Amino acid sequence: MRELFETDLNIDDHPMSSAELVDAVGKADVLVPTVTDRIDASLIAAAGPQLKLIASFSNGFDHIDVESASARGIAVTNTPGVLTQDTADMTMALILAVPRRLVEGARVLSRDADWAGWTPTWMLGRRLGGKRLGIVGMGRIGQAVARRAKAFGLSIHYHNRHRVSAAIENELEATYWDSLDQMLARMDIISVNCPRTPGTYHLLSERRLKLMRPEAYLVNTSRGEVIDESALIRLLDSGAIAGAGLDVFEHEPMISPKLLRLAENGRVVLLPHMGSATIEGRLEMGEKVLINIRAFFDGHRPPDRVLP
Ligand code: DGY
Repeated sequence: MRELFETDLNIDDHPMSSAELVDAVGKADVLVPTVTDRIDASLIAAAGPQLKLIASFSNGFDHIDVESASARGIAVTNTPGVLTQDTADMTMALILAVPRRLVEGARVLSRDADWAGWTPTWMLGRRLGGKRLGIVGMGRIGQAVARRAKAFGLSIHYHNRHRVSAAIENELEATYWDSLDQMLARMDIISVNCPRTPGTYHLLSERRLKLMRPEAYLVNTSRGEVIDESALIRLLDSGAIAGAGLDVFEHEPMISPKLLRLAENGRVVLLPHMGSATIEGRLEMGEKVLINIRAFFDGHRPPDRVLP
């Protein structure tokens, strides 16, 4: 890209301050934000007329006000597809980690370990095989999670805005639930894999979370705002939900101290939004950003154009 553009690189990878973002949109032709950069209506209003493209280095684009950008004639692209397998791997890791108490077990062998040895009733978790997994959002990532989970003997259930094709349902042996409420009430594990859109904000509201069985686990590698986090904390605290594996949070990078406290007992496993964090994935995301920018400036429709 350096051959084509004068580049201004955020070399130390820090989340950009609003002043830096205002400065960037005031002079750049292309902005390449990440998920931590809020590209909201006021920032877009501050953009100079030279800004033509926001080529986000991300799969999700909930940090960008695509409507405002479009109204100003600024195109938006993302990097779909290349994070799918990595995010599904991490989802599966959480699906394993919480019921099988992996983090809790690993902690026993930490430096100040006090392990008395194997006993028959110690560190018992729950078996995955034969349990029901309910996937909320059966897009690319949801399907990749289903493929993995099926290999672990979980039966696959899903709720999605639209039913997926019969071919995919057959391949995954997946059961479609038109009613999210009914699915939540019947599952052993719920995995949230839908994008954050205006329609999915607090999709797992307190009322819906309360429908989950007390033995059930909740895993989220999508976006924190899809779950009412305060309600989830209350329900975990009271034992109304057995456990949770969370890679994303409602107010990142702030994590509720109550959630951190719950994580101390191992029923809750917290990860710092690292579902897609692989070297390969990041390189492929970078390549996608470049392909989108090149297509746009060559006068073509960028392959990953996001529309309002
Ligand atoms: C994305 O790109 O949307 C991811 O959340 C980053 O992991």
